[in-house]
Amino acid sequence: MPLKVAVVTGSNTGVGLSMVRALCKHFSENGAVYLTARNEERGLHAVEVLKKEGLNPRFHLLDVNDVTSMEKLRDDIKTEHGGVDILVNNAGILSKDNIPLYEQAVESIKTNYHGVLLMTNTFLPIIRDGGRVVHLASLVAARTFYNISEELQQRFKEVSTVEGVTGLMDEFIEASKEGDPTTKGWLDFAYGISKLGVAGLTKVQGENVSKDTSKKDVLINCCCPGYIRSNMTAHHTGEDTKGMISPDQGADTPIYLSLLPAGTNDIQGKFVSKRTVKNFFKDDIRPVTFD
Ligand SMILES: NC(=O)c1ccc[n+]([C@@H]2O[C@H](COP(=O)([O-])OP(=O)(O)OC[C@H]3O[C@@H](n4cnc5c(N)ncnc54)[C@H](OP(=O)(O)O)[C@@H]3O)[C@@H](O)[C@H]2O)c1
Repeated sequence: MPLKVAVVTGSNTGVGLSMVRALCKHFSENGAVYLTARNEERGLHAVEVLKKEGLNPRFHLLDVNDVTSMEKLRDDIKTEHGGVDILVNNAGILSKDNIPLYEQAVESIKTNYHGVLLMTNTFLPIIRDGGRVVHLASLVAARTFYNISEELQQRFKEVSTVEGVTGLMDEFIEASKEGDPTTKGWLDFAYGISKLGVAGLTKVQGENVSKDTSKKDVLINCCCPGYIRSNMTAHHTGEDTKGMISPDQGADTPIYLSLLPAGTNDIQGKFVSKRTVKNFFKDDIRPVTFD
C-alpha cells in the first residue's frame, strides 16, 4: 500500500506542529508527514522535538509567500511519492497593530489569503483521489462578516468564483490605502478580512472541486482551531489566557477534517468549528464565541 502523504504549512510551531504530531501518530510507519517551515533552523528544531517523542516527520523548506518554494516542494513530493493525500494550509500571520492598516492589509492578505490560494492551486494537480485539503481560518472570520456592511455581506454570500473572492480582498486593500475602509463598509481589521477571504475561497474551491471530473472524493474545507496558546496569541497574558486551549487541543478539528472518511459528501467547501459545520454565510450563528 502506498504511503499516505501529508503536508502541513507553517508547522515549526503552534497548531501546525501539533497537527504534524497528530498525523505522525495516526499514520505511524504508513505515512510520510511533511513538517514544513520558512526557516530551516526553526523547522529542523521542531523535527528534533518530534523525534524525541518517537515520531518521524520529514522536513522541507516552504515559504507560502514564494511560489517557487511551493513548486519545489510539490515537485520533490511528486518525484518521491507521486502525489499528496492531505494538505493543511496552516501558515498564517497576525500583523502587529502598531503598523499602518494598509501595510497590515497587504501582508495579511498576502500570507493568509494568497498563501492558501496559491498552495492549493500548486498542489491540486498532485492531490490524489480521496485527498483532503484543510485551510486554517478562524471564527474571527464570522465576527468580521457580521461587522461589514450588508452590501458586502451579500457579495460574500453570492461570490461564486475565485477571482470574485480575490477581487473582494483587493477592494479591501484599496480601501485601506485610500484611508478609513469602514467608510466603504469594511471593518478596519486586516486579519479578520483575510480569514473571511479564506472562508469565501473555501466555499468556491469546494464547489469547483466537486464539479472537477478529474478529482474523485477530494474535499476542501476550512476551520477554526479555537483560541490557542501560541506565538500568535503570545501577547495575551494574565486573565486573557484563561479560556485558551493548547495547540494539541486546537489540532483536533483540522485533523478531523484531514481524516474525513471516504464518501463524506456533505462536508465540502464548509467552515467548521469544534467538528461542527457553521454556515455563517447562510445562517446567523451569533454570538460568535470561542468557548
Ligand atoms: N492561535 C489562535 O488562537 C488561532 C485562532 C484561529 C485561527 N488560527 C490560525 O491557525 C493557524 C496557526 O496559528 P498558530 O496560533 O499556530 O500561529 P503561530 O504559532 O504564530 O504559527 C504560525 C506558523 O505560520 C508560519 N508562517 C508565517 N508566515 C509564513 C510563511 N510566509 N511561510 C511559511 N510559514 C509561515 C510561522 O512561521 P515562523 O515561526 O517562521 O514565523 C509559524 O510556523 C494560523 O493560520 C492562524 O491564523 C489561530
